[in-house]
Amino acid sequence: MIDGMIDSLLRPESTGDLLTARFREMFGTEMRIFRAPGRVNLIGEHTDYNDGFVMPAAIGFYTWVAAAKREDRVLEAYSDRFDEKVTFSLDALAGPPRRHWSDFIRGVAATLQGAGHSISGANLVIHGEVPLGAGLSSSASLEVATALAFTVSSGIAVPRLELAKLCQAAEHEYVGTRCGIMDQFIASFGVSGNALMLDCRSLVYQLIRVPRDLRLAVCNSMVRHEHASGEYNLRRADCEAGAKLLAQHLPGIHALRDVGIADLEKYKHALPETIYRRCRHVITENQRVLDAAKALQSGDAGGFGGLMYASHASLRDDYEVSCRELDLLVELAASRPGVYGARMTGGGFGGCTVNLVREECASAFEAEMARTYQQATGIAPDIYVCEPAQGAQAWPAERS
Ligand code: GLA
Repeated sequence: MIDGMIDSLLRPESTGDLLTARFREMFGTEMRIFRAPGRVNLIGEHTDYNDGFVMPAAIGFYTWVAAAKREDRVLEAYSDRFDEKVTFSLDALAGPPRRHWSDFIRGVAATLQGAGHSISGANLVIHGEVPLGAGLSSSASLEVATALAFTVSSGIAVPRLELAKLCQAAEHEYVGTRCGIMDQFIASFGVSGNALMLDCRSLVYQLIRVPRDLRLAVCNSMVRHEHASGEYNLRRADCEAGAKLLAQHLPGIHALRDVGIADLEKYKHALPETIYRRCRHVITENQRVLDAAKALQSGDAGGFGGLMYASHASLRDDYEVSCRELDLLVELAASRPGVYGARMTGGGFGGCTVNLVREECASAFEAEMARTYQQATGIAPDIYVCEPAQGAQAWPAERS
């Protein structure tokens, strides 16, 4: 007890402590705390829903969920970001997306129940640190943290992989974005210090150490991508249409993952021009991820960076998911000292770029990027210098 008191006098209050106090004040009971991180994708964009390869890393911005079981079938969830509380009955969760933060909570609970997991009613307090609409996967971090909170507070154990898949399904049905598995996967399986290369077909992954002298500098264009889910679903539909048309000539292919660039060029005539370019992005991007993994493993930061620039160009020209501000951030970064590579990251249409930067150059990079981007656009960007962080976990808040 005395030790605990001294400890808390010496330590500045952490997010977990603040959340504990908030929960007690609001619900008057003990609770458990869970958190899941946002992510930055180093390379492999719009490949996950084509059964392809991605290489994200978790970053040290988390969504925190404090949770306690209730004896009735009610979910009560308070978000401090929106300063709003919602209440649902576990028996009436169905319904279309409402474009509200609680869609994620409702969706995760409904999807867990739909898969046969009997979750209990719960009180939740949610604290989000992941910037919203920035392409850093605040959604998946909320889903995964909530899923952990529901299952643990209900006393049931669901394997992480199943949780990640159920969170993805929740996003499809209750939020309306037909996303791939990347974000929920990295939020669940990220390991600090490492990027994670995932085969989105087999779901086999490999951790790849990011050298200690490199930083993942994330530049937020401050252009929010909130209305992008329609465009996202359209890109996915283009890819599916492309795979279907190609399958008429290449029997046995199930997704663009199965198509090589030589075959794409051979059957180019069978595809409308736009669909051809969408396919070309996905097919070349898959190869870039494989090459990037080799480069990172062999300490070739320059080679890795070159692939990042190529990825950006492909997303800009073939996939058409970049925007003026993201292109500018990449151009500005390319001339900075200590920068190996830069590209847009996440779904696109705004959001962030990711930059591979030598540690000793990171603060000058931050200052100069902020200055030059603001000079050119009038917008002050947020810049986060990150190292790969840990995936979802319970936060050890239950000290006496
Ligand atoms: C969003 C989706 C992911 C992935 C990326 C683009 O983040 O949630 O599944 O498709 O866009 O790579």
